[in-house]
Amino acid sequence: MTKIWKITEADLTDESKEDELHEQLEEIKIAFTYGEIIGIPTETVYGLAADARNGEAINRIFSAKGRPGDNPLIIHIHDISQLKDFTAVLDERVTKLMEEFWPGPISFILPLKGDYLSTNAVAELDSVAVRMPSHPVGRKILQHADIPLAAPSANISGKPSPTNAQHVIDDLEDKLYGVIDSESAIYGIESTVLDCTQFPYRIARPGAVTKEELEEVLETAVNTVTEQTDKPISPGMKYKHYAPRQPLIVIEGGINNNTKLPVGREQKVGIIAPETSREFVSEDMQFISLCRERDSYKEAARNLYSALRIMDTSDVDIIFIHGFDKVPESEGLMNRVYKATGNEVIQSE
Ligand code: TXA
Ligand code: MG
Repeated sequence: MTKIWKITEADLTDESKEDELHEQLEEIKIAFTYGEIIGIPTETVYGLAADARNGEAINRIFSAKGRPGDNPLIIHIHDISQLKDFTAVLDERVTKLMEEFWPGPISFILPLKGDYLSTNAVAELDSVAVRMPSHPVGRKILQHADIPLAAPSANISGKPSPTNAQHVIDDLEDKLYGVIDSESAIYGIESTVLDCTQFPYRIARPGAVTKEELEEVLETAVNTVTEQTDKPISPGMKYKHYAPRQPLIVIEGGINNNTKLPVGREQKVGIIAPETSREFVSEDMQFISLCRERDSYKEAARNLYSALRIMDTSDVDIIFIHGFDKVPESEGLMNRVYKATGNEVIQSE
């Protein structure tokens, strides 16, 4: 039986629940010590966590997700002092970024030091990605366990990432020891991954923290790894991601009165778009509203994976998704949308 620990943000400061909370946190810590894998909340997506020093525990993560072994995991910490156990001396430019953005939705790839971490967790690379999450419950678990936790997103490899505990249960119920049932992820897409092993730093995966925000703090240019021209530095980027089972196509420019969808007469159609597009969608299509307006990028990111999951389990045969305007704030969102579609695009008229 999968354990479910219900811990909300309010529980952390509720005095009447102090003992119960302490018991829950102890139980979770002990489970990690024994090499168990547990679904934990973070502000980006839910993670599937295990002790990053324990090779067997890490293997359990890879096999539960069906994840290729050459795709390294992100190590989650609660305090910068933990870094000295497994990374070489930090450049002060990185420290500055950590002070600015941690705890929060950004991971830094740093040079790996020594054999403190399991080599499985870092896929035998000589670098390691590290993140300090800000979700209050996730953070509390990290603080109490005081163990570096390796955690990929808690979904079956290739499927949309989970943004709430139910998604984790839907994907992995019989494969994990337990799940913490807490608030949904507020960002809804995975962290920005910044490669700091060479200068200028490079964005290996766009996310909530934008290139512009990084450049403002660093006062220098930040590059972006483009998959067409660069050797993939983030091994995960070469795999298919976030995809529902049906074909998914982006409508660049969004749906309007003149949009002609390339569908057969028998096909059931699903549309994922801002609420403002609903009026252009015929009644026989399944419409999922992603956000209020065409520029509600944060709201759209928060709801994206849920929408893809609902479509995945529905009876629609083909899905179309709104292509948001290309602005810095939509970069992470559209990166996930394109990954989920496999770059299938049509233009609205
Ligand atoms: O928001 C997040 O980052 C979530 C939550 C749970 O923290 N985690 C997450 O993990 O998205 P995952 O495993 O789904 O994605 C990790 C990405 C992969 O693309 C992986 O290839 C890359 O980070 N990565 C990890 N370590 C790396 C390294 N040393 N060098 C290059 N890329 C690395
Ligand atoms: Mg993932």
